[in-house]
Amino acid sequence: MKILQDYDLATLNTFGISARAKFLTEVGSLAELEELFTLPEFKQNKKIFLGSGSNVLFTKDFEGLVILNKLKGIKILKAGAEVGKDFVLIKAMGGEVWHNLVIFAVDRGYWGIENLSLIPGTVGAAPMQNIGAYGAELANVLENVESIEIATGNKRIFTKEECELGYRDSIFKNKLKNKYFISAITLKLSKKEKKNISYKILSDHIEKNKIQIERSKDISNAVCQIRRSKLPDPKVIGNAGSFFKNVFVEDAKIKEMLSIYPHMPYFKENGMTKIPAGWLIEQSGWKGKRIGNVGVHEKQALVIVNHGGANGAEIKNLAEQIVASVLAKFGLELIPEVNLI
Ligand code: EPU
Repeated sequence: MKILQDYDLATLNTFGISARAKFLTEVGSLAELEELFTLPEFKQNKKIFLGSGSNVLFTKDFEGLVILNKLKGIKILKAGAEVGKDFVLIKAMGGEVWHNLVIFAVDRGYWGIENLSLIPGTVGAAPMQNIGAYGAELANVLENVESIEIATGNKRIFTKEECELGYRDSIFKNKLKNKYFISAITLKLSKKEKKNISYKILSDHIEKNKIQIERSKDISNAVCQIRRSKLPDPKVIGNAGSFFKNVFVEDAKIKEMLSIYPHMPYFKENGMTKIPAGWLIEQSGWKGKRIGNVGVHEKQALVIVNHGGANGAEIKNLAEQIVASVLAKFGLELIPEVNLI
């Protein structure tokens, strides 16, 4: 395996931030993964695993080893009796592009991840933050996660329950942060129609464009259309999707806010109420604003963009200013969804 030194990470994160890694390597097979654990650069340095870098912000150079997950492969597992005739198990390796897994599923008519179309990132990163969009999340279909313990090289399979999935959250972002490398995931998808088009923006789009939903692919296509119309393409303008999480708020606070802002959007989820952070940021006057090389996207205030040449500190600084103004105006604290490194 090749170990590169003093490597510029600009093309390896979707913000397009130039930051240097002391060492960089990539893992393309399970044999290479085993070899990795024997290397002195691995043993002697702090390390991070990177998929497609779509949810990280490098705020400074990384004085350690960056390991790119390039493990590839998607296959249908022999369905055991336990999944029944209506379901299928699909195993995907961590370095696969997430959207390619969605295409694999919808091309075969399977249901369960079509609402998650076009989410940037790799399969290995998906359980980290329990990716979600348009009323669906990975937790609805995840069967298990295969991983390697970084300290020992031991394999471990996490059941879905053991992953402790929450809203944009999992055990891998908390208790077990940087402790496991995710090598593969298995999903349980439905062979029978299981459409989920209750998310308002999705149902409005389907109705307005008179789209017939017969296959999971029809939903996938609709989701792609919405995302392309609203979210900036990182190939054109650097960004990491939503920079912040939406905010869970107590009922009393919702009431108080509705009395001042009767048109405030809010959603009920698992018995809690969530306010879109994009709305809070927009109301605080940030939508479309630019400060030097960085700014807030003009169509979706939850997305911070690199207009070109920004460094991580500038993005972090803008994010901190947004947090401060939302806190001052609404008394609510925004929490980043993006991992700051
Ligand atoms: N809104 C505004 N102004 C904005 C943006 C949003 O007022 O600038 C309000 C609107 O009222 C809109 C509501 O927020 O009705 C919801 O907006 P949207 O459907 O665009 O979703 P979101 O809550 O802003 C979340 C995810 C996105 C995901 C969409 C669609 C988080 C942090 N973000 O955004 O995920 O694509 O829902 O399901 O939960 C990502 O994680 O990177 C990401 C893009």
